[in-house]
Amino acid sequence: MAAIKILVGTVYGGARDVADHIQPMLEAKGYTVEVSEEPTIADLENKDLEAVLVSCSTTGAGDFPPNFDKFYHTLNEAGAALSHLKYGIISLGDSSYDETFCDAGKKIDAVFAEYGAQRIGRPLEIDAAEHFDATEPAADWIGRWADQLQQVEMV
Ligand SMILES: Cc1cc2nc3c(=O)[nH]c(=O)nc-3n(C[C@H](O)[C@H](O)[C@H](O)COP(=O)(O)O)c2cc1C
Repeated sequence: MAAIKILVGTVYGGARDVADHIQPMLEAKGYTVEVSEEPTIADLENKDLEAVLVSCSTTGAGDFPPNFDKFYHTLNEAGAALSHLKYGIISLGDSSYDETFCDAGKKIDAVFAEYGAQRIGRPLEIDAAEHFDATEPAADWIGRWADQLQQVEMV
């Protein structure tokens, strides 16, 4: 059965809640899904995965949550061969941080693309100023994302 891994970067648990909420939705579509708060480069290089989903908030001034920081910087500096990788981005932020809104998600998207990975769908940016509960927009978005992934699988 096709497998998806959700890599979570979170400070207060919101991005984890999103991952836990969408996991059964993807499972209902026939995927096996694992959620991890300890992302590794090996997760990206694992060709047995159908896709990787990132659910990550932004902290500080456009920074990664501590549990995601080393992963990002290792990837950015050392690189990896990611041309097999399909991925999606769910980015949690707050538009009151005008200059750095959802910057962590933008940075991980850019580095995946730089190393050849193929993004499925547009990144979802969830604004805490607009959504008290981040799981709601994520639930709307994930169905479309899974449909787009299936279309790419069929090509
Ligand atoms: C100290 C602090 C710094 C933040 N910095 C940013 C930021 O630079 N850009 C942004 O879009 N959101 C920023 N946020 C908003 C968080 O990303 C947002 O509240 C998110 O939903 C938190 O998700 P989490 O519970 O997974 O950590 C910041 C929040 C805090 C408390």
